[in-house]
Amino acid sequence: MANNNRELIEKRRTFAIISHPDAGKTTLTEKLLLYTGTIQLAGSVKGKKTDKHAVSDWMEIEKQRGISVTSSVMQFNYNGYCINIIDTPGHQDFSEDTYRTLMAADSAVMVIDASKGVEAQTRKLFKVCVMRNIPIFTFINKMDREARSPYELLEDIENVLGINTCPMNWPIGCGRDFKGVYDFSKKEILAFTANNGQREVEMDELTIDSPDLDDRLGETLAQTLRDDIELLEGAGDEFDLEKVQSGKLTPVFFGSALTNFGVEPFLAEFLRMTTPPLPRKTVTGEVDPFDDSFSAFVFKIQANMNKAHRDRIAFMRICSGKYDKTMEVYHVQGNKKMRLSQPQQLMAQDREVINEAYAGDIIGVFDPGIFSIGDTVCSPGKKLQFEGIPTFAPEHFARVRLKDTMKRKQFVKGITQIAQEGAIQIFQTLGGGMEEVIVGVVGVLQFEVLEYRLNNEYNVDIVLENMPYELIRWIEDDSIDPKTLNLTTDTKRIQDLKGKHLLLFTSEWNITWALEHNEGLVLTDFSKN
Ligand code: G4P
Repeated sequence: MANNNRELIEKRRTFAIISHPDAGKTTLTEKLLLYTGTIQLAGSVKGKKTDKHAVSDWMEIEKQRGISVTSSVMQFNYNGYCINIIDTPGHQDFSEDTYRTLMAADSAVMVIDASKGVEAQTRKLFKVCVMRNIPIFTFINKMDREARSPYELLEDIENVLGINTCPMNWPIGCGRDFKGVYDFSKKEILAFTANNGQREVEMDELTIDSPDLDDRLGETLAQTLRDDIELLEGAGDEFDLEKVQSGKLTPVFFGSALTNFGVEPFLAEFLRMTTPPLPRKTVTGEVDPFDDSFSAFVFKIQANMNKAHRDRIAFMRICSGKYDKTMEVYHVQGNKKMRLSQPQQLMAQDREVINEAYAGDIIGVFDPGIFSIGDTVCSPGKKLQFEGIPTFAPEHFARVRLKDTMKRKQFVKGITQIAQEGAIQIFQTLGGGMEEVIVGVVGVLQFEVLEYRLNNEYNVDIVLENMPYELIRWIEDDSIDPKTLNLTTDTKRIQDLKGKHLLLFTSEWNITWALEHNEGLVLTDFSKN
C-alpha cells in the first residue's frame, strides 16, 4: 500500500455516540464540531426557542418527538486526526438500529446525565454497546447542575453494563457549587467558573497542594476532594489501556457540554486512547484495514431521507484500502461488478459528493434497491464476505390493515422498503403473500415510525391490530416443514421475507412445549443475515 494511504488511515478515528434522550449528545457533538471549525455556532443552533434544529436532527418525526430516530454521520479534522462520528438513535426502542450502527464504529462514546445516571429505559441501548466489545468512553454530563454522587454514578454504570469504570477526572461539587474537576493523570485541577451567569467557562490550573486551594474551592469541597483522591488512588480500577481497548473497562470523564467544560480534554484523551480502524472479521478470516484493496459493508439503509429526492441511500463502512469514485467494485451478495453511484459523505442534511475515502470512513451511496444490510462490497477479484449483522428477535407484534384497499401497491412498496431498511420486520403466513402482513418490532415506538412514514412518504394509512404473541423464534433447520410440527393451538407458523420459517409464541411455556414435542427441533432468537 502506498505510504500515503497508510498515513491517512492511521489518522482515522470512527466512533458512535450514544446517550439517553436529553443527556446532551447533541450539545456534546456540536461542541466537538465547534472546535474543529466545522460549524460556527453550537448549542443555540438547536435551541427549541430559536426554532432551529441541531445539525444532526434532520428527520421530521425526530423533530416532532424530540428523539433521535435514525443515525447521521459527520466527518471532521482535528489536530491531524480525521474523525468520523456516527450519531445513534437516542431511544431504546431503536436499539437494533444502534447495534447496527455500532458495527460500523471502532469505539463508542456514552453520554450520561449526571443527575439521572443510567436510566431504566435506556439500559437496553447501553447493553448493545457492551455486546459489541468495543471500547466505551463515558462522558458524565451536566455537572453544572445538581448531580448524583459520582460514586453512585460509577456504580450504576458498573451494575448495568457489567464493565468496570475508571474515572479519568473527578468532579469537585456540582450545580451552583461546581468548581471543576481534578485530572488524575495531570494531577491538576481544571477550575470551572460560571461567568456572571453567562455560562461561559474560564479554565485555569490548580494543584491539590496549592496553598490557595481552600480559598478557591471552599474548605468543605477542598477537604472532600483530598479525601476522594486518597480513596480513589488507593482503590478503584487501575487504568489499563488494554482493558479499555477490549471493552472491559470504561474511562469516565465528568464535564459539562453546554458550558464547554471538559470537552476538549475529553477529546484529547479519547484520541490518545482509541486506535485507528481495526481489522474486521470475514467469513474466512480477518481483513487488515491497511490492505491495499478496498472492502466495505453496508450497515444501514435509509430511504426518503430527502422527500424531494425520493432516494434510498446505503451507508457503508470502509474496512480496508482506499475507495476512489472512478473504481469498479464487486457486490458480493449480488454477484455483480458495479460502480457505486453518487458516493457521498453526509453532514446531516448537507451532502457532499466525495472523490475518495479510506478505511474507517463511512460513505453513503445511492441504492437502486440492490443492497441489504450486512452486504459486502470489495475490489473485484477479492471475493471476501464480512460476517453478517444479526437481526434481533422482535418483541411486539401487530397485524397491519390497510384503510384504503385501493392503495395496496403503494402499501406493499412502502412496507417492503421500510422492512429492507431494517426499521421493522415483516412476516407472512406460510405460503401467503402480502395479504396478511404481520409486523414485528423491538420497541413499540417503531410502530409509530412505521405509521408515520407510510403516511408521510407513501401516502398510505394503516391500522395496526395488536397480536397476543410475545416471543418469536427462527426454526434453524430450513428443511423442516413447519406444518409437520406438533405445536400448541396458540402458536402461529409464519415466514420472513427471505422465506425462513418462524414460530410466534404467546409464552415461554409454549416454546418449551414445542421443543419437548418435536424431537431435534432447534429454535433461535436471532437470525444471522
Ligand atoms: P440529546 O441530544 O442527548 O437529546 O440532548 P441535548 O444535547 O439536546 O440536550 C438536552 C438539554 O440539556 C438541552 O436543553 C441542553 O441545552 C441541555 N444540556 C446539555 N448539556 C448540558 C450541560 O452540560 N449542562 C446543562 N445545564 N444543560 C445541558 P433544553 O432546554 O432541552 O434544550 P434547549 O432549548 O436548551 O436547546
